[in-house]
Amino acid sequence: MIATTEIKISKTEHSKLNEVSLENVPFGKFFTDHMLEADYENGEWKNVEIKPYQPLLIAPSNAALHYGQSIFEGIKAYKDQQGNAYIFRPYDNFKRFNISAERMQMPTVPEEIFIEGMRKLIEIDKNWIPSMANHSLYIRPLMFASDEVIGVRPSDNYKFIIMLSPTGPYYAAPMKIWVEEKYVRAAEGGVGYAKAAGNYGGAMYVAAQAKKNGFDQVLWMDAKEHKYVQECGVMNVFFIVGNKALTPDLTAGTILAGVTRDTVITVLKEIGLVIEERPVSIDEIIEAYKAGTLKEVFGTGTAATVATIKELQYKDYNMKFDLTNLTITSGVKKRVDAIRSCEAPDTYDWMFKV
Ligand code: COI
Repeated sequence: MIATTEIKISKTEHSKLNEVSLENVPFGKFFTDHMLEADYENGEWKNVEIKPYQPLLIAPSNAALHYGQSIFEGIKAYKDQQGNAYIFRPYDNFKRFNISAERMQMPTVPEEIFIEGMRKLIEIDKNWIPSMANHSLYIRPLMFASDEVIGVRPSDNYKFIIMLSPTGPYYAAPMKIWVEEKYVRAAEGGVGYAKAAGNYGGAMYVAAQAKKNGFDQVLWMDAKEHKYVQECGVMNVFFIVGNKALTPDLTAGTILAGVTRDTVITVLKEIGLVIEERPVSIDEIIEAYKAGTLKEVFGTGTAATVATIKELQYKDYNMKFDLTNLTITSGVKKRVDAIRSCEAPDTYDWMFKV
């Protein structure tokens, strides 16, 4: 544990803020003036510093580059009408980050660095928080192995970084989804629940194939039976069937325990829907579609927020959804947006004031 006073701060003399328009800014392309950097050496975190955003010097033998000990998080910050900055549910991401760290045999990061470091960093760069609707400041904490060795073993040294990126919507338009029955993202006992870099790298080939065939993303299914849906691209997935919301449960450890997923479950309950967190088979989805009870499908994630799915394609069976009547999807999105922009009361204590 380190005291908050031990975070060294070196500010830039040349802010880049004037060079970036915060309106209609693409996802993850621009970075703020500062970043946080810390080193794990000899069993402890040290050299915690907020400094001008800059490249890192990495040896070709860096262990993370070879064997993938690398994890990250995605969090968002907003501001209210008065210009006060808030971070949305940072403690949930903090907990998940350390769960990922344990699974990848990496050290955990203490609250004093993760939360307090993030708070201080955003305090310094808070003018970078966009105010336009569907915009926010995306926060990317990242940890990777920093040993310089090509033997396969857990690294002794690690680097922890927090960087900030002003951002607009991740998926701008309703999505056409390919239900994948050959390739898998995660199997039981694997690392599917961890926000490990390799989970994303491993998905790219399949996502690219889907794109080539005219789809925006892939809906993954389980590795054993290729029957139960898991995640959709970089999102958790929800199916609105009658007055029920179906979403895959977390027990198999194959999907990410999304913070937005949890937020949306809370909001769906408010609206009066019955939530069923359980294995959801593609056959059940097709049956509900045929019966006319499957009305809406959407994905949730920090980057994506609540993203409309307009089409699902499973083998040669196509399901199209009526985009003119997405009451639940738009109601949930509106409610979540209202809380995050501080227009609605923070009933659940989700907003962390910077
Ligand atoms: C997020 O939703 O924050 C993610 O991490 C997904 C993606 C941008 C990698």
